[in-house]
Amino acid sequence: MPANFSHPAVPDPLPDFSESLAALQAKIPVLRESPHPPLGVVLGSGLGGLADAIESPTVIPYREIPGLAASTAAGHRGEFIVGHLASRPIIAMAGRLHVYEGHSLPDVTRPVALMAGIGISELVVSCAAGGLNPSFSVGDLVLIHEHSSWLGGKLGAPPTLFQSPINPSSAPASAAGWFQRRLSTCDPTLDQIAHQTAHKHGFELRRGMYLAVNGPNYETRAECRMMRGLGADLVGMSTVPEILSASSAGVRTIGISVVTNLALPDAPVTADHADVLEVCERAADRLQQIVRAIATHGA
Ligand code: HPA
Repeated sequence: MPANFSHPAVPDPLPDFSESLAALQAKIPVLRESPHPPLGVVLGSGLGGLADAIESPTVIPYREIPGLAASTAAGHRGEFIVGHLASRPIIAMAGRLHVYEGHSLPDVTRPVALMAGIGISELVVSCAAGGLNPSFSVGDLVLIHEHSSWLGGKLGAPPTLFQSPINPSSAPASAAGWFQRRLSTCDPTLDQIAHQTAHKHGFELRRGMYLAVNGPNYETRAECRMMRGLGADLVGMSTVPEILSASSAGVRTIGISVVTNLALPDAPVTADHADVLEVCERAADRLQQIVRAIATHGA
């Protein structure tokens, strides 16, 4: 073991992105003027509608920020939307980056790392997911209270089964302080606000374990059976790197999935990307209520 090996309490996993950060900050004076720290939101497939609720929005395409990759997936706009929601400054990522688009994990997590850099205090990460838990229905909202990642760092690389997973920097895991840390991240306060909101508005918020895979194909029946057997409730192609990146930077974070299709081995239902987008549109109002409640809490 190298002499300078150490386990910092909070690792510093972020690569130097001062140029990207300065470019983003220059475009959003509104965030600097507010007495409250901004809330961050990642809007997953088909969930970009929440961006329309942001008041006095400033739209910043990722391509205008040096060092950020463009989003190419359908239903992902590839823009930061900055403004206010429920009197709280907010920065939303309308569209995310995925490993299946050919992006590296540092690229996938960089927009979130930038949001942490500009000072968000909380982050809500939303996503579409397949429901592996047979008690789930299409359209359910599920709070991700546990996760596991099989995301390989390179497109085409075999999944890294149980590799403790995402070091969002390109530094070796030990150097970044990830070694032997148990990376479980669901902020209890945000969890509670989300559940209270669901109760107040009369909809159900389920809980589940999210398994992240490379995609872009959906799972075979054999894979669904295996994943369920391993305890996963949800399967999707994103979210875990973003949650880890934000929470390791000290941002209180929760992930919420919309079940867009059932990934049940014995009742296989084929879902295409258009179905996924349509179900998400229908779930967007409920998600928005949760985001509003979290915004109000911090305002
Ligand atoms: N598998 C993986 N990712 C997904 C799914 C799925 O069934 N549905 C939405 N995203």
